[in-house]
Amino acid sequence: MAKKKKGEDKNMGKVAIYPGSFDPITYGHIDIVERALEIFDKVIIAIAENAEKRPLFSVEERLQMVRTLFKDTPNVLADSFKGLLVNYVAKTNAKVILRGLRATSDFEYEFHMASMNRSLNTHLDTLFMMTSKDYFFVSSRTIKEVTKLGGGVEGLVPDLVARRLKEKFKLPITKKRQISWDD
Ligand code: PNS
Repeated sequence: MAKKKKGEDKNMGKVAIYPGSFDPITYGHIDIVERALEIFDKVIIAIAENAEKRPLFSVEERLQMVRTLFKDTPNVLADSFKGLLVNYVAKTNAKVILRGLRATSDFEYEFHMASMNRSLNTHLDTLFMMTSKDYFFVSSRTIKEVTKLGGGVEGLVPDLVARRLKEKFKLPITKKRQISWDD
């Protein structure tokens, strides 16, 4: 029997692959996924295994965070891939690569990547979604830097991610103060 493609199921509907490093996932990424679910039936968050980028979190750690955060959203899957993105996408039922765009500064890099991917596989398109205004300045890189230097990233990443970051940087994890009526 021929090997089934990921998502090769007539009921899967429209599938988008959302690739990235997700080192770690932020509310900017989550916002893109949530909005994409208005357009697509399924979103696959595809974490790139790229040792050259020297990620802070292992692929397993990143997958675990993403899977925990979307555990109640069955139409969001998390996966990882090595090598060319187009080869990974070809193994799925998806025709669309989804990327978030924060600012014009992202555009050149994204334009090159989308053009290269399109030249490698003309059946694939990249769909860009503008990042919501609340997350325009949020990137995994700055989130890591700010946490490492002791700054707060509440509201920019889920609590789970903030905790994992502090564990990585061996920073104290302060419990939220419980406010009671007796205070
Ligand atoms: O979150 P990032 O780091 O901006 O994501 C970049 C990513 C992982 C999507 C990109 O580097 C990628 O697709 N890597 C896989 C290798 C590949 O296909 N390279 C050719 C694209 S030009």
